[in-house]
Amino acid sequence: MTATAQRHLLLNMTANGSLAPQGKELFVVRRGEGPYVDDAAGNRYIDGLSGLYCCQIGYSYADEIAEAAGKQLRELCYSPLWSESAHPTGLELAERIAALAPDGIDQVFFSGGGAEAVETAWKITRRYHTLRGEPGRIKAIARRGAYHGLTLGALSFTDDPGLTEPYGPRAVETHFVANTNRAALEQPLDDAAFTEYLLADVEATVLAAGPESVGMLIAEPVQNRGGCITPPEGYWEGLRRLADRYGFLLVADEVITAFGRLGEWFGGECYGARPDIVTVAKGITAGYAPMGATLVADHVAEVINRPGEVLNHGYTFSGHPLSAAIALRSLEIMQRDRILENVRDLQDHLAGRMASLTAVPIVGDVRGAGFFYALELVGDLDDGGFSDTARAALVADLIPRRLREAGLLARVYNRAEPLVQIAPPLISDRALLDRIADIIADTLAEASARL
Ligand SMILES: Cc1ncc(COP(=O)(O)O)c(C=O)c1O
Repeated sequence: MTATAQRHLLLNMTANGSLAPQGKELFVVRRGEGPYVDDAAGNRYIDGLSGLYCCQIGYSYADEIAEAAGKQLRELCYSPLWSESAHPTGLELAERIAALAPDGIDQVFFSGGGAEAVETAWKITRRYHTLRGEPGRIKAIARRGAYHGLTLGALSFTDDPGLTEPYGPRAVETHFVANTNRAALEQPLDDAAFTEYLLADVEATVLAAGPESVGMLIAEPVQNRGGCITPPEGYWEGLRRLADRYGFLLVADEVITAFGRLGEWFGGECYGARPDIVTVAKGITAGYAPMGATLVADHVAEVINRPGEVLNHGYTFSGHPLSAAIALRSLEIMQRDRILENVRDLQDHLAGRMASLTAVPIVGDVRGAGFFYALELVGDLDDGGFSDTARAALVADLIPRRLREAGLLARVYNRAEPLVQIAPPLISDRALLDRIADIIADTLAEASARL
């Protein structure tokens, strides 16, 4: 299979030219069951990352999902949401999502995934400001280290030069502010002081960019990249105040945090977020089909929907009937099987298990919420960093290898501050969460011993 990939398949975010025979073997996942996946050789793993943060209900709802999909395909395989035309499933899903969304957010624009949802947020932002007589609001604010997708527009909102520089100048001028990672602080701060510091940075950045030129600020309720970075108390309320003061829109990128990952339909609800626009994808169909969506607050919709104003933006597969039918059924399953309640019931237990890992010497910081955690690793150098040898032996090799050998798929980031991250399926029970914590504890204890 590695040979087929070499000949024909360009994998995403992969050194495609470095696969075997010279280098790495491809990891081929053949089937899934419950919270587990099996590789091509028949080995079973706990899917500790829910695929790529999307398989909220695991892999065993295929019959019900297929029933909804089959019904939809027999009735109507395709019809666009385009030029005053729609289909009932798209309408029903928009209504359902609006009902779940935070108060005052009632309009839904569908897309094919997260990056498209983010780009839609930007275009709606631009439209909103222009129609209100402020066409000069052409700049965005985003947070350092964050990731909002890889299409050229969405890529503007990341500051990772490895991702942006190969593709030339940003499509959207973006200014970057501090993220909410306490572990990066030189001096520890309490919540109030940390929030003040972060908001002062946002305000200074807006003022330096020119407040009349800033269109939106985009942030995740819990930032994925950099390792499940939670906000301090008062942060989202403060962002709201700054957005109101300076007239920019506040966009919550909930591509990972929506649909139960933090125990709520929208993760922002855990932190008092009151965004103008929310972007979602991944868990909206629980990974059973591709889909993204941009949710728009009524006061924004009122502007872009002024009679006669055309929303010149769209995708052929926006709200595809198959994806919409699957999303509807998946949301129904999540409600019926009390999936959010499962996260709420078990999140304190998982938090406790994760917190206890700070006792392992190689663990420098533990952070996260709901079913979404990261462990930041400290190395053998005086400043907590890793020497090249320790990094190569442990972060690039031993830790990911041992986790997998023990039957856990987790994410190991080999970055400046290495991380181990989990985002298990939301159907995971206590025993499975314990097993995940045990495997991580054993693996990191071994790594610590070799540090
Ligand atoms: C916060 C966030 N926004 C946007 C995206 C992009 O989503 P997609 O890969 O569906 O384009 C991702 C993907 O991981 C993400 O984590």
